[in-house]
Amino acid sequence: MSELTIRPFERRDYPELGNWFHSLAELVQWGGPHITVPLDLRQLDDMRMDPALICRSFDLNGRLVGHGQVRFDKAADTARLCRIGVSPEFRGWGLSQPIARGLLGEAFAKPWVHRAELAVYTFNVAAQRAYEAIGFRAEGINRQVVRVGEDRWDQVMMSLLRPEWRG
Ligand SMILES: CC(C)(COP(=O)(O)OP(=O)(O)OC[C@H]1O[C@@H](n2cnc3c(N)ncnc32)[C@H](O)[C@@H]1OP(=O)(O)O)[C@@H](O)C(=O)NCCC(=O)NCCS
Repeated sequence: MSELTIRPFERRDYPELGNWFHSLAELVQWGGPHITVPLDLRQLDDMRMDPALICRSFDLNGRLVGHGQVRFDKAADTARLCRIGVSPEFRGWGLSQPIARGLLGEAFAKPWVHRAELAVYTFNVAAQRAYEAIGFRAEGINRQVVRVGEDRWDQVMMSLLRPEWRG
């Protein structure tokens, strides 16, 4: 496969990213409980301009194929990977691991980050497999953390500590 490259998330990426998720369930699976439908300019600007968050785009042969974010918490020595997503056309290509690794590289580039963490809904087996493959360990389940329509979803908390990181 050609090399996947990482760069800052830009306004020109909004239309493509907006095409990846349509229903409330798809948006919450990707972005958590605070996202609203549609994924509009205001929400994307808020993410991109948030000083505690870095937003990254991933390109394959110049085409936007992935997205991910890292939220930093200096008081807790922690970086939280979030909103990892792959273009529907490119799912199943094995891109989730290099994307998560790229975000981890950005997280641990800050010398004070000791713990990387993330939360993933329990039904999202593909995401959990990718995170486990790069070293994340499941810590436990938060039960019924979000309601989507008639359903309430559980989430798995996962973490990876700096000494466990293989770079
Ligand atoms: C979850 C997501 C990021 C996975 O990305 P991807 O590039 O399609 O996944 P990969 O091709 O890297 O596959 C990851 C692993 O899951 C497995 N997998 C892929 N699709 C699967 C499925 N539907 N069910 C079970 N396992 C699956 C792959 O075989 C691989 O495991 P392996 O390395 O042990 O073989 C992507 O599907 C996505 O963007 N989904 C919508 C948004 C989302 O859920 N984001 C995650 C938020 S935590």
